[in-house]
Parts: sequence; C-alpha cells; structure tokens
Amino acid sequence: MAKKYPVKVTLTTKSTLPSVDFSNIPFGKVISDHMFVADYDGKEWTDFRIVPFGPMQLSPANLALHYGQSIFEGMKATKVGSEPYLFRPEMHARRFNVSAERMCMPTIPEDLFTQALEMLVDLDRAWIPEQEGHALYIRPLMFATDEYFGVHASDKYRFIIFTGPVGPYYPKPVSLWVEEVFTRAAQGGAGEAKCAGNYGAALLPAQRAKMAGYDQVMWMDAVEKKYVQEVGTMNLFFFMDGKIVTPTTTGTILRGITRDTLITILKDWGYTVEDRLLSIAEIADAHGRGTLVDCFGAGTAAVISHVSSITWRERRMDLPEANEASRPLSFRLKNYLSRYRIGLESDEKYRWMHSCANSGVMDLVDSTKMAI
Ligand code: COI
Repeated sequence: MAKKYPVKVTLTTKSTLPSVDFSNIPFGKVISDHMFVADYDGKEWTDFRIVPFGPMQLSPANLALHYGQSIFEGMKATKVGSEPYLFRPEMHARRFNVSAERMCMPTIPEDLFTQALEMLVDLDRAWIPEQEGHALYIRPLMFATDEYFGVHASDKYRFIIFTGPVGPYYPKPVSLWVEEVFTRAAQGGAGEAKCAGNYGAALLPAQRAKMAGYDQVMWMDAVEKKYVQEVGTMNLFFFMDGKIVTPTTTGTILRGITRDTLITILKDWGYTVEDRLLSIAEIADAHGRGTLVDCFGAGTAAVISHVSSITWRERRMDLPEANEASRPLSFRLKNYLSRYRIGLESDEKYRWMHSCANSGVMDLVDSTKMAI
C-alpha cells in the first residue's frame, strides 16, 4: 500500500542478527540492523530514509552537543502471532512533540512518526524477541544539527529511530533512596520533556545513591523536598490504605504512557486511583501503620518494577516480598500487560495495539538483497 511519505530503503549487507544471543540481552547494548533517518532543513522534514544502523559524521560545533537540544522517546514493539505490533504509538508521537516544543525544536507530523515506526519495525521484525517480558525497544530521537555555536535555537535538525531487542530493565526489585539534596526538575523547568539533559543531570545523584547501596533515586519536589515525583526511569505507584496513589503530573515529572495505561486498567478493575500530590511523610505514615502494601515503578523500559525498600533519611521502609502471594495487584497488572502486548488479552475496548503489517516496506525492498 502506498504511504504518504516517500521513504528510500537501503538494506544492510551484513546483518548482525545471527550473532545475537537472545537468551542474554543486556538493556541497550544490542541494536538492530536498520534505522530511520529524516532531516529538517529549516522549513520542513525531508529526505526520509531507512539505512543500515551505523555511525554518522558530526561537527564538533554541532549545537546539540553544546546546548542540549536533544530529545527522545522510548517505546516497544512485540509480536502477536507472527505480526509486529506497536503499543500506543500516537501517545508517543504526541509526547515527542511536547518535548520538541519545550526544547524549541520543530515538531514532527504524527503520521510521519507512525509511518516511520511501522516501516522500520516491519523491516526488522526478526529482531523482536519472543521470550516473556522481552520486546523490541524503539528509540526515536531528535537533535540539533546547526554547526555554529552562538547560543541559539538550531535551524536544522535530524530525526532518527533505531531499535534493539531488550529484556527486563530491572531484573530484580529496586531499592530507592529519597533524594533531598539534588533536584530533578522545578516548576517551569523541563521536567515534563523527555530531553537528554534531564537524564544527564540525574547521573551524579544516581551514582551516589548506588555507592550508598541503593539502586535508584526517588526524586522529591524542588521547593519543599516533601512531595514524591518519579524515579527518573519510571513513574511511581503506591498501594496504600486500600487505594492506589500516584504522584500527579504538574509539569515536573514525565507524563508516562505506561502510567496512563495502568491508571486506565486499575480504574476499570474497580480500584480507586488517586492522581495527586503525595508526600513522603504520608507514605512513611502508611508504612508505619502497616497499610502500605505495594509500591512499584511503571515505565516503557521498566514496565512494572517492584520497589523492595524506600529509605528516607535514617528510616528504611521495607515493602513485602515481591511475589504473587504478597503483592497480588502489581503481579496481576504485570501479567495482564505482558499478555496484552502479545495479543493474549482483548484489545477491543482500548485499541492500544497498532499493527505494522501493512507498512509497505517490503514493496520498497528487493527481497533478493535481504541480508538475512
Ligand atoms: C523508557 O522507559 O523508555 C525510558 O525512556 C527510561 C530510560 C530507559 C531512559
């Protein structure tokens, strides 16, 4: 089927797929054969192409390297039967454009974003792992490409999508350190954007927490250091006092698509979900009374990751053992979501699954030239 945007496809001549050990995939280290690339020339997006994944030339004066105009998304593809599917791609396209606007970058038409994803994932469908809890991680990104370094918003940009098979991001439950010295984002800042700088600035606090024996930092609000924000790689959910509470997105934390998905499912399952300001003191109080029964992070990479403990100053709050008997709700959610992504739960109500089967990419490919 003809697609709206003309895409030139150049196949790799040397697939790296045969060298991949699908039983052991460290997150982020394995990258599939092809990538989608487009350039913004100051007026419009042009030169749509799928090419072999590989390095590219960058001027040391490249603006993104100096002033951080660089944004990304994280999403996943799975297989339903033998067909590749995306999960809620339109939500990722919209969030990508929210990030772009915040960073003074051009937006990308949603239908171009989706067409590119469909074609790339369809072409590299052999890279989608089929083990439970695994998926093809998709990384769309955009960065400035102007090559003069006065501080300004770049005129030119590059948009890339590449993919790679992944297993679970956190292979075991995570211990969290309540961070009260460093801040992730303040009101009016860029906390809601998925921009590179948010992640770069979180590395030092994360490293310090690691050295102190914790897996991750739990961010607090910038003003009072009182209200829980997010982990940086995931949003947070607390099951306390018989209801689910998740920190509200007031501009400083990422509007997670997994977060939105879980809120929808939980409400439909009859749970009370409170999307509101949540103080660490309230969590400590619930823990003290024995009514904090579950806590987990939610994100595209993390999916649903159990929290094993939360340490706030001198106080370590242990959560129940992360098993189905002790934490039935998060296990139920996790199972439901992983079954959903491989077509074992009905998509009739939500329509979250998006097929890549009619991408048309194979019409542009000389199949005799396929390297795999
Ligand atoms: C994601 O969940 O996809 C993220 O972007 C978090 C992290 C891997 C950067």
